[in-house]
Amino acid sequence: MNKIDDPRLKLESLMASDVTINDDSILWRERELPIQNRIPRFTDEESYSKGNFLRLRELHPKLQLDSFNKTSDRRRTILERTGWQPEFFRNKLVLECGCGAGPDTEVLLDLGAKVVAVDIAGVDIARENLNDPANAVFVQASVDDLPFRRRHFDIVFCHRVLQHTPTPKRTLEHILRFVKPDGAVFVHSYARTLYQMLSWKYALRPFTCRMDQEVLYNRIEAWTPHLFRFTCALRKTPPQEIVGKLLFYLAHHAVPIRNYRFIPQFSSLDDAALIEYAVHDTFDALSPRFDSPLSAREMSRIADEVLSSSFELKRSKGITLLRSKPDDRQLVNAAE
Ligand SMILES: C[S@@+](CC[C@H](N)C(=O)[O-])C[C@H]1O[C@@H](n2cnc3c(N)ncnc32)[C@H](O)[C@@H]1O
Repeated sequence: MNKIDDPRLKLESLMASDVTINDDSILWRERELPIQNRIPRFTDEESYSKGNFLRLRELHPKLQLDSFNKTSDRRRTILERTGWQPEFFRNKLVLECGCGAGPDTEVLLDLGAKVVAVDIAGVDIARENLNDPANAVFVQASVDDLPFRRRHFDIVFCHRVLQHTPTPKRTLEHILRFVKPDGAVFVHSYARTLYQMLSWKYALRPFTCRMDQEVLYNRIEAWTPHLFRFTCALRKTPPQEIVGKLLFYLAHHAVPIRNYRFIPQFSSLDDAALIEYAVHDTFDALSPRFDSPLSAREMSRIADEVLSSSFELKRSKGITLLRSKPDDRQLVNAAE
């Protein structure tokens, strides 16, 4: 059992005043909730995440971890998307909203942050994946109703989660309330653009998210190796540089598979690993009960309303990022 050394990670210093912590339970809003396996459980075991995200975590627990797949995909993505220097994370108290299997938690810890990792389901798996780290606490709770002190965290971090809650507007408004007035935020959302909304994912989801999730998973698992080979072959169609790329690009929008064969950061992975990734990410795209991206304008309006510090919106065809401005943040001494 790892000992949490940093007093900022003790439950007593994190929780709002209406939470009472006992040895193996919590009292919150007149309900007694369990602390099991040293994890406080503010939500039930059953949730809308169970059939999809939790299934993926159980079947592919470590797949996305840089330390497991030997890429630096997550580290590179976090630094690129936040726009912050690696030193900026050192010693910061981070609220990670929706930690999943812990691939980003791993990077945040590696960068020297102290992490409060929250998910509605499967946090035990995340903690186990990271060998029960001393600089993180894991909490089972909904990012729509967090039990923490408000305006308390140096960084509020939410990556690939917002569109998956039933009411993303409310979720965004809620999570932003937990950052300190001079703290930093990073919130990612899929973009609500025509480019995105016309892709195979949003065309198929009305059917696939209502299917029996085990049946859907099994079908994706059966089809993926064929679609993987098919889309790879398209790319190799001569003349490779023009026709192949065009066909692959069209297939990217029309063929239901996440094929990362030609993405540079995955170049070290063999076909078996890429096919496992493809099964994982295709199911991840098609199965979640909720997937409703917020518009950039809506994200900006909410941030304007809630945040007291400056922020920027970075838009592309596929994703929208709400983040504190790198210029301001880089100047802050991480040890302060
Ligand atoms: C696509 S996964 C992303 C996980 C992780 N951030 C990552 O990038 O690997 C979405 C995560 O959001 C979690 N989630 C969805 N709704 C949530 C809620 N209301 N409260 C907390 N977590 C939630 C899911 O359980 C799942 O782990």
